[in-house]
Amino acid sequence: MRSYSLIAPAKINLHLEILGNRPDGYHELAMIMQSIDLADQIDIRSISTDNIYLHCDHPQVPQDKSNLAYRAAELMMRQFPKAYAQYGGVEITLHKRIPIAAGLAGGSTDAAAVLVGIDLIWNLGLTQSELQELGAQLGSDVPFCIAGGTAIATGRGEQLSPLPDIHQLYVVLGKYRSLTVATAWAYQTYRQQFGSSYITDAKSLETRSSRVHSGPLVKAMFHQDGVKMGQLLHNDLERVVLPTYPQVLQLREAFQSQGALGSMMSGSGPTVFALTQSSEQANHIQQQVKAMNLAPDLELWVAQFCNTGIQVISSVKSN
Ligand code: C5P
Repeated sequence: MRSYSLIAPAKINLHLEILGNRPDGYHELAMIMQSIDLADQIDIRSISTDNIYLHCDHPQVPQDKSNLAYRAAELMMRQFPKAYAQYGGVEITLHKRIPIAAGLAGGSTDAAAVLVGIDLIWNLGLTQSELQELGAQLGSDVPFCIAGGTAIATGRGEQLSPLPDIHQLYVVLGKYRSLTVATAWAYQTYRQQFGSSYITDAKSLETRSSRVHSGPLVKAMFHQDGVKMGQLLHNDLERVVLPTYPQVLQLREAFQSQGALGSMMSGSGPTVFALTQSSEQANHIQQQVKAMNLAPDLELWVAQFCNTGIQVISSVKSN
């Protein structure tokens, strides 16, 4: 029997730009992704039967095939039938700390942890890029979640170029517990409203997608310039989520009014994050916004940028 406990960090998008349609029905994106130390813990162990068991301490998280972590285990079983026959199935326990349907890649990072965990349990010795290729079959954010840190993500979001680690930046995150946004809804609505301005020819798409590499935000990141970074945050999906959910805009403005370096919705939302240069400032903003009593179900967290993706925190091997 082998068991592993893994830490699976959330991500925020410092930049999310929608460029056009892809032949596979997805969108061509240019993003800058950042891991943060708000993380789930995933315990995974081999079992003697050939089943997949999934448990979760969060009542709204499905514990069946509709959970991406479950599908990650199924994918490994299909891809590596010999190892599956040798080692058997797995029992997975998700300890959720990352809010769900929140734009923080909570489901993707759990799936990434399952891929990494099964690779270890089955002694497969897969490289990071092999794991990322498998991850791309599950979801656009899964490859980033495996490596974590700071990266430019283009294509569907699965083509990654690492950026230097960003030192000492903190985030305050805010989410209304009762408000969730489905990623597919956000992208579809964006396409309906703004699809007519999409870039359509392949060459221009390539040029625009490569522009993010030399853009001002990446320059600010190379200079570790938190003030500039705060000013340059961008997310196209705000154009559809904020008008539909004005309380998200209200939260963003509340963060900004308390002196954050910048504030933006993450991914397809509805989580809003505020950048700060110190944990003291992050805690201060958290307290101030809490005191505004914007809504009874507003939850707030403080987290730090982190430069890792999926990490093993403990392992047990026994016969
Ligand atoms: O890849 P993932 O399953 O996480 O994507 C969820 C949904 O987000 C997709 O079904 C699609 O509607 C939308 N999406 C998109 N273009 C991308 C990534 C996601 O349209 N590059």
